[in-house]
Amino acid sequence: MARTTRTRATASPLYTPSRIDRRSRRAAREQFTTARKQARDASPTPMRLTGSSMDLGLRATYPSSGRPGPTSARGGSLKLPPHRMTTAVAAGAYPFLAEGGLGAQGIYVGHDVHAEGAFTYDPFALYGRLDGFTNPNILLAGIIGMGKSALAKSLGVRAVAFGYRIYVPCDPKGEWSIVASALGGQTIALGPGLTGRLNPLDAPARPRGVDEGDWRTEVRKRRLLLLGSLAKTVLRRELHPMEHTALDVALDQVVARAEASGTTPLLGEIAQVLGFPEQLDSAVGEMPGRLVHAAGDLAHALRRLVHGDLAGLFDAPSTVAFDPAAPMLSIDLSRLGGAGDDTALVLAMTCASAWMESALADPDAGQRWVIYDEAWRVMRHAALLERMQSQWKLSRGLGIANVMIIHRLSDLLTAGDAGSRGRALAEGLLTDCSTRIIYRQEADQLGAAATLLGLTGVETRAVSALTKGRGLWKVAGRSFVTQHLLHPRERELFDTDSRMHA
Ligand SMILES: Nc1ncnc2c1ncn2[C@@H]1O[C@H](COP(=O)(O)OP(=O)(O)OP(=O)(O)O)[C@@H](O)[C@H]1O
Ligand SMILES: [Mg+2]
Repeated sequence: MARTTRTRATASPLYTPSRIDRRSRRAAREQFTTARKQARDASPTPMRLTGSSMDLGLRATYPSSGRPGPTSARGGSLKLPPHRMTTAVAAGAYPFLAEGGLGAQGIYVGHDVHAEGAFTYDPFALYGRLDGFTNPNILLAGIIGMGKSALAKSLGVRAVAFGYRIYVPCDPKGEWSIVASALGGQTIALGPGLTGRLNPLDAPARPRGVDEGDWRTEVRKRRLLLLGSLAKTVLRRELHPMEHTALDVALDQVVARAEASGTTPLLGEIAQVLGFPEQLDSAVGEMPGRLVHAAGDLAHALRRLVHGDLAGLFDAPSTVAFDPAAPMLSIDLSRLGGAGDDTALVLAMTCASAWMESALADPDAGQRWVIYDEAWRVMRHAALLERMQSQWKLSRGLGIANVMIIHRLSDLLTAGDAGSRGRALAEGLLTDCSTRIIYRQEADQLGAAATLLGLTGVETRAVSALTKGRGLWKVAGRSFVTQHLLHPRERELFDTDSRMHA
């Protein structure tokens, strides 16, 4: 007798007590069959997305039949002796297999390629929740065109929805302006022929609860640090002790004069005082001529900002006020950086970031992200690295997540020879980034990346094969390979490839 296959319901059929008559049992069965048919008709089979119509980022890494090729471990030809280990050991060998994700709290980034689940991230939410996550700073490294800026812009745009504010102190390509304007933020464009002016010596508003005397000392310290950075960048050397004294004296004189007349001090005034021997010497009771001799180089260094290619940009009262309520603020320096010598750009970055950083000094102003796009350009300038490091150290106290975008990890090594101050500063910045996002690296860079970040062999191989928008995220020692997904509107806003298409 041929066996008939009976369709089995996945849900249990209606419970029919055994002592009811056959007719009632049949009626109950029919009722169940009808209900099941109705349910089947009501939910049509989901349309299969074909490979070609699907978003590249959303496609599964392997076909449903599994990884192809001889390493697929299918077909019975691969025989391995049984081996038992704990999940901790397995995670060491295959760091991605045992990853459970960072939790659902945070900004949606895209999908976790190995877990095939959503990947969310929020440095402020992770702080104190994740072991070893000691600071909210982020390092993002990857070769040209892999989507580093797009990721930073997405994080910024999406972070605004969480109530964070975004600051871009230097945008050398001018690509953030469109994002800021789409978010209702502010852009300050600086360059020859433009009307925007920023005075880096502006005194920021005193935060609530800070003593007046303490605040004056803090503002003075910031101004001296800025003047020192500018001078060191132009002179390309550390300052001598007498030069520090000269800057000190000149700043105090200019500030005293500005306070008496109710104005703000300007860089040009400081350069002028540095060129006047009598004023400097009389202030510290030095032998005539000694301090001014030391101040000669400084006066010439600052002259570049007053009369040189940056004339006027940072030597006039600011034409814009800092708006603490704006969701995003970017400083567009794209009109400045010519090819070759990038000292002008570095000086402008120093002034622009000093102006913005003093505006961000209020610890009660909420949580903020400060994004240093194209930071690789400044890696050779120890003075700017020094400023960045002091911002990094303040990040927890001020509630600021700093994002530093570079091309290769070896950019950090260009800061100086092994053991030099520049190198120590750059390596310090890396240490102070609990989150490291590595986009694709060239084959010759893999060794440096693996050494600097302590990548395993599996991770290093993964980095060499990453595609656009896909990165290895190392978050406090945990590893994820994540595909960043862009909304169509974001894709329009962040497109930096338009000139490459006909
Ligand atoms: N996840 C993604 N999905 C689709 N397109 C992307 C993705 N990420 C970036 N792109 C596109 O790739 C192009 C290059 O991206 P982006 O400008 O962010 O690269 P980059 O790494 O910052 O390059 P550079 O080093 O030159 O600054 C842009 O047009 C962007 O829209
Ligand atoms: Mg970029």
